[in-house]
Amino acid sequence: MDVVHANPEDARAVAEIHVEAWRAAYRSIVPADYLDSLSIECREAMWAECIAVGIPELLVARKAGVVQGWLSFGQCRDIGSHDTDAEIWAIYVSPSVWSTGAGRLLWLRAKELILEQGFKSCSLWVFPLNERAIAFYHSLGFAHDGAAPKYFELGGVQLEEVRFVTQLLGGLATGPPNKNEE
Ligand SMILES: CC(C)(COP(=O)(O)OP(=O)(O)OC[C@H]1O[C@@H](n2cnc3c(N)ncnc32)[C@H](O)[C@@H]1OP(=O)(O)O)[C@@H](O)C(=O)NCCC(=O)NCCS
Repeated sequence: MDVVHANPEDARAVAEIHVEAWRAAYRSIVPADYLDSLSIECREAMWAECIAVGIPELLVARKAGVVQGWLSFGQCRDIGSHDTDAEIWAIYVSPSVWSTGAGRLLWLRAKELILEQGFKSCSLWVFPLNERAIAFYHSLGFAHDGAAPKYFELGGVQLEEVRFVTQLLGGLATGPPNKNEE
């Protein structure tokens, strides 16, 4: 399996995995009506734009030319984060190949790039009910950092996300706070 930056032709496969993995992973978390309404075409357009702009960076894992999963990352978007804080914006693997190593390979390549770019920590947000993802993140060295949860509404239901963080260089992240710090 190869992990490389996505090219414009990957937008469709990325969108398909995005929708497929949401439906498989979030069936007991997100209302079914909302999951059923997800549009591959909308996501394809969104990912085509991201690939063109390069924000967030998008990596795809390919086996025999077929995209198995993807990971997007960039600067941490949290208010009060530092310039040295990176964030996994999203990671999704095709349900048919869960637990075969694609997610781990995606993270290992992202981590190399994140370190090359000078980041010292990496965070992500996850539904506390997403046990598979939480076990996966623990196995990679991420831990819940105690930050206040985020709440938002999806399909008429209030959902909670919690933050997981890993320190990449063994210390606390440093550097000037972002301009939007409150
Ligand atoms: C969470 C997710 C990204 C993990 O990706 P993945 O490709 O399934 O993860 P991996 O296969 O690399 O690792 C998962 C487990 O499989 C095991 N594994 C890895 N390679 C393996 C192999 N060749 N054969 C069998 N098992 C293997 C790993 O040990 C790991 O187990 P552990 O966590 O107990 O250590 C994926 O399950 C997914 O897309 N979930 C739905 C979307 C989602 O929740 N995304 C996160 C949103 S915050």
